[in-house]
Amino acid sequence: MKVAVVGTGYVGLVTGTCFAEVGMDITCIDIDQKKIDNLKQGILPIYEPGLEEMVTRNVAAGRLHFTTDIAEGVKDADVAFIAVGTPPGEDGSADLKYVLAVARGIGENLTDYCVVVTKSTVPVGTAAKVHNELTQALAKRNSSIEFDVASNPEFLKEGAAIDDFLKPDRIVVGVSSERAQDVMSKLYKPFLLNGHPIIFMDIPSAEMTKYAANSMLATKISFMNDIANLCEIMGADVNMVRKGIGSDARIGTKFIYPGIGYGGSCFPKDVKALIKTAAENGYQMQVLKAVESVNEAQKEVLFDKVKKHFGGELQGRKFALWGLSFKPKTDDMREAPSLVIIEKLLAHGCTVSVYDPVAVPEAKHSLGDTVTYAKDQFEALVDADALLVITEWPEFRSPSFGVVGKLLKQKVIFDGRNIYDPQEMQEAGFAYHCIGIRT
Ligand code: UGA
Repeated sequence: MKVAVVGTGYVGLVTGTCFAEVGMDITCIDIDQKKIDNLKQGILPIYEPGLEEMVTRNVAAGRLHFTTDIAEGVKDADVAFIAVGTPPGEDGSADLKYVLAVARGIGENLTDYCVVVTKSTVPVGTAAKVHNELTQALAKRNSSIEFDVASNPEFLKEGAAIDDFLKPDRIVVGVSSERAQDVMSKLYKPFLLNGHPIIFMDIPSAEMTKYAANSMLATKISFMNDIANLCEIMGADVNMVRKGIGSDARIGTKFIYPGIGYGGSCFPKDVKALIKTAAENGYQMQVLKAVESVNEAQKEVLFDKVKKHFGGELQGRKFALWGLSFKPKTDDMREAPSLVIIEKLLAHGCTVSVYDPVAVPEAKHSLGDTVTYAKDQFEALVDADALLVITEWPEFRSPSFGVVGKLLKQKVIFDGRNIYDPQEMQEAGFAYHCIGIRT
């Protein structure tokens, strides 16, 4: 099959590369010439474990091509994916200008029947707008080329995207014709070998599925953060409660870890967008509004603990932060809780020394020289009044606490991810604060 993927951001790049990996002929298209030149040489705009090697391998094998020329990309394509960004507008709704411009570009260049698929996360009703753009573009050419639109939301997690793509829990595809369904079945056949299902449905339902999935996951997290905060007040241990409820298969063990709030480019944006879509259509998403406000508050919980521990006397203190990205195995700083915590510390007259294994170059875009960037996790600790664990990178899980204690000015740890054992910390002489556990 010949596949075009427009947009070489996170989703487009993973999608194109994984299709190439199973032997398909893929052209990835982007308007950014520099990005395309870099990609041809195996230089990626994002960090994702395993992706660089996979891009390089498939480029060398001649299956994966990069171009800025949409005409070249969509020529003879059986399927064209739209995987460009949908940044949130001022009011929280997804801005569709890039998606629709790409739809137009595809329509201007189609050479034969093609299924045009939205892969970007787009509000319910977008496929109809894409259809409209394509129809108009083809009409201008007086072309009678046939096409179908489809919606194929992605469920990739940053840091695990390749595995998620190659071994998906499920593939959701919204279609409106049997012809499109046949093409999409053929396209995904190589990924269904382990019995994972492809679920066909109508287009609006596929579009809604994406928002419902992310909103449900965000709800689980905010709910657990609420429970964790209450556990602290009531003297309960959220780790025990988590195990206690997670063993009920209806609740499940995943995504019920409390922390310092969800971040990233997906949950915050999608929750906001669904609230907005609902309101525009006369419906109030009451649960999601609470999910959002609990999350905003949770990003400040660790700072509140710091303030309380030091009796409000923060001026002139130094704090070490381990981790900056919104979660491990990514350099993504979008909506990262670290930014909120750092802003609060700086506003209270503190200095901040940070270490992150990969996110520092990204973080510098927003933090600039307001903080000190340590060259390793231990350098960050020197003379700090406390350590704040922000992102649960594997290398932070089991440091030598003897060394940590010696480097810090005071043996105090605020753990926003509950990665240490409170009893061990106590035995090692640390004042240890975490989330949802009375210490
Ligand atoms: C999320 C979804 O998990 C993917 O299925 C989806 O495809 C993707 O959004 C998307 O829409 O593109 P991602 O944003 O990469 O993926 O990150 P997650 O691994 O889901 O983590 C999101 C946030 O939730 C992180 O800040 C993480 O620290 C937090 N989290 C997660 C918790 O606080 N507790 C948990 O138990 C799990």
